[in-house]
Amino acid sequence: MAKQFDLVVIGAGPGGYIAAIRAAQLGLSTACIESEPYADPKGAVRLGGTCLNVGCIPSKALLRSSELFDEASRGFAMHGIAVEGLKVDVPTMIRRKDNIVTQLTTGIRGLFKKNKVTLLAGRGRFVGREDDLWQLEVTGGVGKDSAEMVAARHVIVATGSSARHLDGIPVDNKMICDSSGALSFDAVPKRLGVIGAGVIGLELGSVWQRLGADVTVLEALPDFLAAADPAVAKEAWKTFTRKQGLRIHLGVKIGEVTQSKKGRESVIRIEYENNEGASTLECDRLIVSVGRIPNTTGLGAEIVGLKLDDRGRVEVNQNCQTNLENVWAVGDVVRGPMLAHKGMEEGVMVAERIAGQAGHVNYDAIPWVIYTHPEIAWVGKTETELKNAGVDFRSGQIPFLANGRALGQGDTTGFVKMLADAKTDRILGVHVIGANASELIAEAVVAMEFGASAEDIARICHAHPSLSETMHEAALAVDKRALHF
Ligand code: FAD
Ligand code: NAI
Repeated sequence: MAKQFDLVVIGAGPGGYIAAIRAAQLGLSTACIESEPYADPKGAVRLGGTCLNVGCIPSKALLRSSELFDEASRGFAMHGIAVEGLKVDVPTMIRRKDNIVTQLTTGIRGLFKKNKVTLLAGRGRFVGREDDLWQLEVTGGVGKDSAEMVAARHVIVATGSSARHLDGIPVDNKMICDSSGALSFDAVPKRLGVIGAGVIGLELGSVWQRLGADVTVLEALPDFLAAADPAVAKEAWKTFTRKQGLRIHLGVKIGEVTQSKKGRESVIRIEYENNEGASTLECDRLIVSVGRIPNTTGLGAEIVGLKLDDRGRVEVNQNCQTNLENVWAVGDVVRGPMLAHKGMEEGVMVAERIAGQAGHVNYDAIPWVIYTHPEIAWVGKTETELKNAGVDFRSGQIPFLANGRALGQGDTTGFVKMLADAKTDRILGVHVIGANASELIAEAVVAMEFGASAEDIARICHAHPSLSETMHEAALAVDKRALHF
């Protein structure tokens, strides 16, 4: 007889593991199916999905290590601190990153145990429905010879996404890598090519550039960071290319990519063209970071009639309900930004809805962060979006150059820009480029979640000296009464 649960979650990434924990907290008997061992030495499945294993967490660990190296090699001098014989030890850096990943994935295992979530190791797929119970098959778990059947009243599909690869550019995750391989280089490449100037290209390009690689990024779109506010994109372009020396070619069409040997070294040649003509980029390592695709293959969607959209994502309504009764889907496998915190919010919402509560996600207040240096963060609408929608708005923008704390820290790049409705003063979008933007944006998210006006932020006391005073000044600047600029 198949094991039976109130809820089975397929996938233990941020969307799935959070949904499972919340459902268990609410008293539902819950199981979670996960198939990936990632880098586990014993081949046991690891929890936490892309985010913990090969995404958010390892990338931020390496960003921090490389930032410290960059500070020591280029930033300390202005403080009168001289460093001699500075060296990078890549294996130690990678080991530190791997240890953080192990600590966190093991932690999720502990949380499953504590909350009595049953972990089912293997690949899950739908095989049918009997007596209002969805029938799922779990195959391929370590030490499992035969398929295990489970039955569930509710199912949450949280199977996430995988890196998109390009035809004719075979990823071996040694020489030509997607984001997973680029998190585990054994040494700093001399010349690093990156295809795609999106979030991954910029973050991982930054890591290896700070450690000494000569980085060139090839981007298909004619505009840089088209999703960001235009002022932010302009400032980022200026900082990355002119100040930091990152080479970014826009409007590029990639041609043939070949690998050959030059002595003992392998060389990758990427032919490309843009409005400057045809060219060839030679590099020792290549990162392909051109977006991610939803994981729906092998899920049995066609067996039970689970509807996918034209981009292969599971089709859902605003509450993450699919076309099938009691089948839900959250995270990267559904529409919306592919962000861990968006998936987690959806996981909580769905678990609460299954338990009869009224969970919901405010898709208008989901923050975006790009962990480059300077960091880039925003919430709400950009100036372009407001103009295109014909919304009358006021804008306040304050540079970190006018902030005492930023000066003291020796890091004055960037600004805070606030956009508010011209009539009601309600905050419509906040855009930050600068040090600690990832933390500063939280104030703006809270403000937007509570429907605050720029005047509300202007009337809040901000600690002095702190970077957050720039948020305060930007709010004052919306009303043209900034005090320090
Ligand atoms: P996933 O994390 O992809 O998890 C899905 C899980 O389901 C996987 O473990 C997979 O093995 C499992 N699975 C799939 N199919 C099956 C099946 N049939 N049976 C059993 N198990 C299955 N987001 C941020 O918000 N901030 C960041 O800083 C950030 N940095 C990133 C850096 C990188 C390099 C990458 C690649 C991504 C980053 N992201 C970041 C995105 C973030 O990782 C994803 O948005 C998030 O992991 C999505 O969560 P999820 O639960 O939907 O899917
Ligand atoms: P992305 O969508 O951010 O960027 C991909 C880039 O590649 C785009 O600029 C696109 O125009 C370009 N591109 C596509 N095809 C191309 C081609 N043939 N030639 C040249 N350029 C091409 O995707 P990315 O960087 O792969 O990241 C995937 C997702 O992972 C992100 O969208 C984001 O949701 C998530 N992520 C989030 C992070 C964060 O929150 N800090 C960090 C890293 C990833």
